[in-house]
Amino acid sequence: MPGVSRRSASIKTSPHRVLVALADELRRKGRRVIDFTAGQPGLPPDARAVAEFIEFIAKNTFTAFRYAPTQGLPELREEISADLKRYGGVEVPADNILVTSGGLDGIILSLYATTDPGDRVLLLEPCYSMYWDTLRFLGLEAEWCSESVETGFQPSVDCILEKLGRVKAILFASPDNPTSRVIDRGVAKAIAEEASRRKVWVLYDVAYKHIVYEGEHVWLEKYVEDPDILVNIGSFSKDIAIPGGRLGYVYSSNKTLIRELVKLKGILGIVAPVPMQWLAAIYLKKGWKERYLEEVLPVYKRRRDAAYDAVRKYLPRARVAKPTASMYVFPDLSPYLAERGLNDLDFTVKLAEEKGVVALPGSIFGPSGVNHVRITFVTNDEKTVEEGIKLIGEFLGEV
Ligand SMILES: Cc1ncc(COP(=O)(O)O)c(C=O)c1O
Repeated sequence: MPGVSRRSASIKTSPHRVLVALADELRRKGRRVIDFTAGQPGLPPDARAVAEFIEFIAKNTFTAFRYAPTQGLPELREEISADLKRYGGVEVPADNILVTSGGLDGIILSLYATTDPGDRVLLLEPCYSMYWDTLRFLGLEAEWCSESVETGFQPSVDCILEKLGRVKAILFASPDNPTSRVIDRGVAKAIAEEASRRKVWVLYDVAYKHIVYEGEHVWLEKYVEDPDILVNIGSFSKDIAIPGGRLGYVYSSNKTLIRELVKLKGILGIVAPVPMQWLAAIYLKKGWKERYLEEVLPVYKRRRDAAYDAVRKYLPRARVAKPTASMYVFPDLSPYLAERGLNDLDFTVKLAEEKGVVALPGSIFGPSGVNHVRITFVTNDEKTVEEGIKLIGEFLGEV
């Protein structure tokens, strides 16, 4: 058999996939599993939007399943443009939007278009584990500024100002995964100003922009002096709850960059899933997105409260920040793991095997995630959230 390429072999399978496979195996063996792994929406997509979509594709089978322009359906791009105006008060012409196959596709395309192999990219870690994998995939080097629970996972402005001088781009999310923090406005302003001055690309991942419980999403376009450095990367996985539909979008006032991205998207998949583009267009046009969010946000908030309270109750020595957004609680379990002589990866595997509770090890999100655990709180009802966290407490000998 011919060998696989060195570049492919150099990328390791993420422990995330290993744990998801372990959860599946336990389920197949008939074990009850409390699954805290996936960043999935906790409720299904809006039934009325889906019904209208099904009616639309039944009547328009040819149109719904044909190739569409690589940049995305004009009907959807117009709706995204109106949606950005409605929520953020920002003017983004439909021509400045590329529809992508999910936010991750937007991240990969944006990194490819703005960097060359060997370039450095600044991350604010702990961060979405795929950022690390994507940098490796593209032959990029990571620089990082660390965040911790003490500062509510806000990065240090001094670190950012220093490191922006060494990188081609900064990539970060707000609201964030796994820390759930919303970037502080002062920090956002400092990033935007310094990156404008140094002509560093700002790749801003806004996948969770509507999943905010207290405070508000930060629209970075309001702070950049040079709007052409800013690339916003959105997703339909979280707010209209179609992660398996694989749909997202990128927008920027930089028309040259958008042209590059469209060219690259043509190579990487031709066009984002067309039936899903119709679904998203219907969702936005008919106002179903607002209604869906109105329904789910209070449910997520209750689950957030349950998760945070349970961590305080059953893991009192964990350091934890109360999430004000996003889908995750991210406690630091250092004292417990030290007592048990476990690292966070072994801990999550043993916890799954012994208690049937599956959560993600913090170290996959970056060096500052070591000894933390990521618990998704939106995918289970309050009772199950509490039960799962109580089982973690039992496993760690606290309960
Ligand atoms: C911060 C962040 N960005 C982007 C994504 C990618 O989402 P998708 O590719 O499903 O749109 C995720 C998924 O969990 C995420 O957490």
